[in-house]
Amino acid sequence: MKILMVCLGNICRSPIAEGVLRVHALDADLPLTVDSCGFERYHLGDAPDKRAINVCKSHGVDISGLRQRLFKTEDFDRFDRIYVMDANNFNDVKRMARTPEDMKKVEFLMNVLHPNENKPVPDPYYGDSFDFENAFQLIDLACRAIVKSLIVRQTSSK
Ligand code: 4NP
Repeated sequence: MKILMVCLGNICRSPIAEGVLRVHALDADLPLTVDSCGFERYHLGDAPDKRAINVCKSHGVDISGLRQRLFKTEDFDRFDRIYVMDANNFNDVKRMARTPEDMKKVEFLMNVLHPNENKPVPDPYYGDSFDFENAFQLIDLACRAIVKSLIVRQTSSK
């Protein structure tokens, strides 16, 4: 299973999601490929925002080695699921989709916890450390739920 996390900048929410999902998958011995990307080219090639690195570090997750990249059309082919953080990301991905099949892979991350509600992970970029902690907690709950559901799926297909 290959999962792509998408936000706008790819320096706050989606790298947190990449790091957190990878750690939970490793802890559960679940083979998972995880990546993240964004749509804003201003931080191309940069490490995640220091505040994102720090909130992850405080929860035992190291995302300091991740680097910003942009979403590309081939990502629809390379990944099984594409999780977006908010409606803007959803629309950005939709604009790149070639077929309805491409969009079948795309889901709001928070829909893992609240199906069909299309709730956002609020962008903490212009916020403070409370906003980063809040984003971390929302992402962490969703990533735990993703791993849980994949383990159930793996077990029932054996
Ligand atoms: P992110 O936050 O989408 O969670 O990575 C942002 C980071 C940077 C920018 C926007 C959002 N920016 O415009 O530079």
